[in-house]
Amino acid sequence: MYKSEITGLGMYVPERIVTNDELSQYMDTNDQWIRERTGIEQRRWVTPGDGNSTSTMAAKASKIALERAGLTPKDIDMIVFATLSPDYYFPGSGVLLQDLLDFDNIPALDVRNQCSGFVYALATADQFIKTGMYKNILVVGSEVQSPGLDLSTRGRGISVIFGDGAGALVLSRSKGDSEILSNHLHSQGKYAKELSNLHPGCNVPPKKLVEDWDPNDFSYYPYMNGNFVFKHAVTRFPEAIMEGLNANNLTPADIDLLIPHQANLRISQFVQKKLGMKDEQIMNNIQRYGNTTAASIPIAMTEAWEQGRIKKGDLIVTSAFGSGFTWGSNIIRF
Ligand SMILES: CC(C)(COP(=O)(O)OP(=O)(O)OC[C@H]1O[C@@H](n2cnc3c(N)ncnc32)[C@H](O)[C@@H]1OP(=O)(O)O)[C@@H](O)C(=O)NCCC(=O)NCCS
Repeated sequence: MYKSEITGLGMYVPERIVTNDELSQYMDTNDQWIRERTGIEQRRWVTPGDGNSTSTMAAKASKIALERAGLTPKDIDMIVFATLSPDYYFPGSGVLLQDLLDFDNIPALDVRNQCSGFVYALATADQFIKTGMYKNILVVGSEVQSPGLDLSTRGRGISVIFGDGAGALVLSRSKGDSEILSNHLHSQGKYAKELSNLHPGCNVPPKKLVEDWDPNDFSYYPYMNGNFVFKHAVTRFPEAIMEGLNANNLTPADIDLLIPHQANLRISQFVQKKLGMKDEQIMNNIQRYGNTTAASIPIAMTEAWEQGRIKKGDLIVTSAFGSGFTWGSNIIRF
């Protein structure tokens, strides 16, 4: 059995900075509420016409990751693309990325696990390397969420949280001690509607959306049962992390850097406290980017690496919880 290692990291965020004060011009909210409840100070949103889409931002992040891995698109055997906000209803954004850079006709797999998307995508790519089927896989998380948000006061509980951005990594067959030690993945579909965007879908296809357009129907916007999601998140995050650590005979004290999905600063602080971890053991950048769903872990990992907070041999743990519900962890010897 082969092992896989992370050989390159990259990220891209749109230029436009949206502050909490700007949001208070659209809805009844304020900087203090958003900072206290979520930790978010600003987020990046695409501007219509700036050329940024889920796939084009992924391409920008991927180019950087490839360069840092010392590889070209021709070296990549597969794309695994995690997003909840694909460019199109279909096909997925993976094939659009395949077309944007100079890849061969390699497979492009789209992962639809929302906030846990990157943890699932990394675990999936790891399996293809472990079996020996592929040597280099591009794993991407990219989201353009802002155009789909309800910016009226009705949507304030969820719309202040989300940001746009992309992150990518190259996963390669390991030549040394670096490896993905384990992946643990879970789902609980009975709570599918607690954090969801139900329409359009097969029950309400886009055609119906156009024909029966009702400005007072909010089912086309994301919905979140905030408190319910929060309570499950603070249970599932530590559970998934401990499941991964236990499987490797490790403890929270062994972690050099925990990179949680950037859901909410309060959730990350709760997890840190529950696991008894020090500030320097946890990566938080939600303050500047908001919750970028499938992109949040690769963006945070790239920033941590750029800041020198991830070094060869470090024990890195990623963990996520979100819509589905889905959750999981990856334990990585970097
Ligand atoms: C969304 C979240 C920040 C809300 O925080 P909360 O402390 O639970 O707040 P509540 O939803 O109980 O709302 C408290 C009050 O603030 C109000 N409020 C909600 N959003 C607001 C906003 N943006 N600005 C100002 N007030 C707001 C509510 O209407 C409510 O008012 P009321 O008491 O008069 O009814 C929190 O539930 C959360 O973090 N949930 C999980 C988020 C998450 O991780 N999502 C992604 C999954 S990965």
